[in-house]
Amino acid sequence: MNEHLNPNSISQQADHLEEEMMHELERVVSKSTLHYLADGEVKMDTSAALWAKHPGAVFNMGPDPRLPPMPAKPTLLDYFKCRFAQHAHLLQSATHALKAGHNEKVILACLLHDIGVVSFIRCDHGYWGAQMIEPYVDEEVSWAVRTHQALRFFPDEAAGYKYPEMYIKLFGDDYKPEPYIVAEYERARNHKWYMTSRLICVNDIYSFDPNMKVNLDDFVDIIGRNFRQPEEGLGLDNSPSAHMWRTMMWPNRFL
Ligand SMILES: [Fe+2]
Ligand SMILES: [Fe+2]
Repeated sequence: MNEHLNPNSISQQADHLEEEMMHELERVVSKSTLHYLADGEVKMDTSAALWAKHPGAVFNMGPDPRLPPMPAKPTLLDYFKCRFAQHAHLLQSATHALKAGHNEKVILACLLHDIGVVSFIRCDHGYWGAQMIEPYVDEEVSWAVRTHQALRFFPDEAAGYKYPEMYIKLFGDDYKPEPYIVAEYERARNHKWYMTSRLICVNDIYSFDPNMKVNLDDFVDIIGRNFRQPEEGLGLDNSPSAHMWRTMMWPNRFL
């Protein structure tokens, strides 16, 4: 039987068409060039190419429905819970610093030192992380987060920091820090906050210890006292780095 004359098939086709129309009304999610670059492609999503695939579509300009929803006025803790891909390393480092009796600036710096990695971009994570938190923390904390990018490649055995075995495994024994990292280290060595950044390295836990009990709740008060949470919500304020938090919140907005 010719299937075009089959009433079932016609109603199936109608269902299919309706489904397609629904999809057409969905907001199409696009990717930033950076996502493609990270996959080894120099490429971008253009409206013409997306329309060719999804005729008549409109593009997502808000939250990505596939990601955990963020509250209307997000806090740093909401980003920890909904956007940071991992907490364990940060919590373990901060717990180490807490147990060693360091001051709250050091503990906060340890807690936030790798937020660039866990939520944003690996390359130059110390610089990205520092910039993200700069408007909200004491200058010493963001300076330390920025500078740990360089210090972690240089041992300071008197301070209790050896070159990490893990780095030999990760980068090979022939890896040499680039000149901009060496220059950052040289500048940091005699800086008044050198030890704050060095203590990030000392408390940086390179191997995950499954027996170490860590809990974000242990740091809520320290965050409350040392991180200036904007009233409008982190990312919805007017700080110089608010756009970075918004980008984490809405990574697939078309513009
Ligand atoms: Fe780091
Ligand atoms: Fe780290």
